[in-house]
Amino acid sequence: MSTHTQLKVLTATDIRGSKKQRRLTMLTAYDYPTASIADAAEMDMLLVGDSLAMVVLGHDDTLSVTMDEMIHHCRAVARGTQRALVVGDMPFMSYETGVEDAMRNAARMFREGGVRAVKLEGGLSVTPQIKALTQAGIPVVGHIGLTPQRVAALGGFKVQGRSAEAARLLLEDAKALEEAGCFALVLEAIPAPVARHITESISIPTIGIGAGADCDGQVLVFHDLLGLYDKFTPRFVKRYAELRQEAVKAIGQYRDEVIQGTFPQKEHSFTMPQEELEMWEKSIKDRND
Ligand code: KIV
Repeated sequence: MSTHTQLKVLTATDIRGSKKQRRLTMLTAYDYPTASIADAAEMDMLLVGDSLAMVVLGHDDTLSVTMDEMIHHCRAVARGTQRALVVGDMPFMSYETGVEDAMRNAARMFREGGVRAVKLEGGLSVTPQIKALTQAGIPVVGHIGLTPQRVAALGGFKVQGRSAEAARLLLEDAKALEEAGCFALVLEAIPAPVARHITESISIPTIGIGAGADCDGQVLVFHDLLGLYDKFTPRFVKRYAELRQEAVKAIGQYRDEVIQGTFPQKEHSFTMPQEELEMWEKSIKDRND
């Protein structure tokens, strides 16, 4: 029997308090079906990730998704979620430009998008925004390591923190984000020993993606986990299903049955009372005579 049948809605405070108590689970979700599926599977957090730019909208990176598009998807995820904490990803240039922009855009995600926390990428440089948001009552998830919104500056989707100096800077960023008020921290594509040390050095939960097994929780992209995105699969992804192949097979079968005339069958069709049918057929006949 599920431990979550009483459907307690999770909050940022619950997530923060889970450190060292239990491992946390996060999955991205982008619309009503992905949210309701992930929520039914009892994920703790659903991240409306800006990865939707790639896996849902077909862009080559995450930079082109707009605030309005993110809000549109957040709203659908909020409608599909009963238990998980819904986290909205702040898109490129919605917060880097200053505290005021960050406040206005995060407030839109809350009010219009129905999320209950936001995530933003970056370390020390975004701590003024994080302080302002948390002081205004908006819970924030930080994100360091491989930060896809800075892909141009990072020189591609590459593992971060591989030198002693880079690892030291990541630890400094993690401590600054904790200090600024984040309630959790995503660590993306960094060496496992660096992630372990960061996890042991801060009091908020770390959520890893390509950061080894010693983080306090893990996050994956919905379409990667289920094998729905065929353009690119990072090495750190484990595919738990191959739904794209299944979908192509099912749709191919539908196509064949339509062409062969074996779909629809009687059970998929509607009928009408016999006397109405006869009256109608008679009216056609009379009209044609
Ligand atoms: O946008 C996203 O999906 C993310 C996760 C990979 C953490 O930021």
